[in-house]
Amino acid sequence: MTHDSSLAVVILAAGLSTRFKSATPKVLHSLGGKPLLEYSLELATALTDAPPILVVGPETETEIRAWLGERAQLVVQSNRLGTGHAVMQAQAALEGRARHVLVLYGDMPLLQRGTLQALHERATATDAAITMMTVTRDDPQGFGRIVRDASGQISAIVEQAEATPEIAAIRELNVGIYTFNAAFLWMHLPQLQPSPRKGEYYLTDLVGMAAAERLPIESLQTSDPLETLGINTRVELALAAKTLQRRINEHWMLEGVTFQDPETCYLDSTVTIGRDTVILPNTHLRGKTTVGASCEIGPNSVIENCTIGNRCRVTASVLEEAVMEEGSNIGPFGHLRKGARLCRGAHMGNFGEMKNSTLGPGAKMGHFSYLGDAIVGADANIGAGTITCNFDGKRKHPTTIGEGAFIGSDTMLVAPVEIGAGARTGAGSVVTHDVPPDSVAYGVPARVREKKDQES
Ligand code: UD1
Ligand code: CA
Repeated sequence: MTHDSSLAVVILAAGLSTRFKSATPKVLHSLGGKPLLEYSLELATALTDAPPILVVGPETETEIRAWLGERAQLVVQSNRLGTGHAVMQAQAALEGRARHVLVLYGDMPLLQRGTLQALHERATATDAAITMMTVTRDDPQGFGRIVRDASGQISAIVEQAEATPEIAAIRELNVGIYTFNAAFLWMHLPQLQPSPRKGEYYLTDLVGMAAAERLPIESLQTSDPLETLGINTRVELALAAKTLQRRINEHWMLEGVTFQDPETCYLDSTVTIGRDTVILPNTHLRGKTTVGASCEIGPNSVIENCTIGNRCRVTASVLEEAVMEEGSNIGPFGHLRKGARLCRGAHMGNFGEMKNSTLGPGAKMGHFSYLGDAIVGADANIGAGTITCNFDGKRKHPTTIGEGAFIGSDTMLVAPVEIGAGARTGAGSVVTHDVPPDSVAYGVPARVREKKDQES
């Protein structure tokens, strides 16, 4: 990471985004698990410690500010008079603060850190008036055309609305990302004139001004046109999501993770995965999820904010804010909810649900069970259909099951209740009182009938 306090970043996000047709500000729409705007903020933060200036429209200001907190300085552009006008809104806050000013868009999430670093290095090395990114694309729709003179120097950017057919045919396009020499920028920005066709202050006119004064203009071509994708519609949002997904999955494949069908696996950028783990189709890994080494995850699993140790298996299950320790497994069709923990080697089979509960080391809960607010000791066996009745209609109550206990099929554990270590309950029992260690209880309501050592 380069930290250069002499760089200031301005992020433009005041556009109307009408094509999104949304009540939510476009830049707050989620992409790969985080708001669109987060991508530009992260790029800015990677380049400089100084918080960026974010230019927003008046109708999105409140919502964006609430999400943003102190991470950027908001500037409101009340009447949208173009990209040049948008940057003018930042002049008072930035003038005299930095040697270079980087202009980014809030809706260009695929831009890579390395590309911006290269742009910044070029700007610092050459100290050109403008160092800008260009892209060559077959479909120039809406982009400004890069006009070069006979010697190949950039002489102007011409917007589509103003382009002659000859200029419109140019395929080198303006990405909209520039590093300006700050002195140049703040001196020339106030000289911009409204464009003849649209009456907007075009930031791009600064290029013509610099060329007219024979000031150096540098450019950097990106080799990946997708990087410059601006998100104007939900079609582009989906395309960006697909591209991000591919990047993330390829990253993990190169780190030693196998994907049987990466096209169907959706990982947030915040997820981490250990080596030799296999991800099977239709797997969603979200939020702050970490998966250990040599696991098998999927198919058909959704895992959010979970910590999964090494050598675990998750088959067709849904996990939220849960922990799986080394060698534990779940599924098919298990559901771990908030606060669920499968300890080392624990097994949870078909149609189980756990919430705020711990299944101890080596414990087993094979079929059709619910554990809520329960702690199950090591090597206990939870029989098919066991339910902790933890909710009395008003409050939740705890259940404790001791080490090595054997809970018979279809036992109802009416909480609060404690089953001692090594105790057994008979099939179909409704347990309303504590069962001492090493004893056997059965019936409805269950009574302690015998000590286990008297059994045989
Ligand atoms: C601009 C460039 C064009 C370039 C294209 C790349 C100008 C004049 N043209 O096109 O050369 O090829 O980007 O996408 O700069 N915004 C504001 N306030 C405004 C207008 C825009 O904040 O008044 C913001 C938008 O929210 C967006 C960005 O600026 O993030 C670009 O706006 P957009 O309208 O998409 O770009 P164009 O002006 O069409
Ligand atoms: Ca745009």
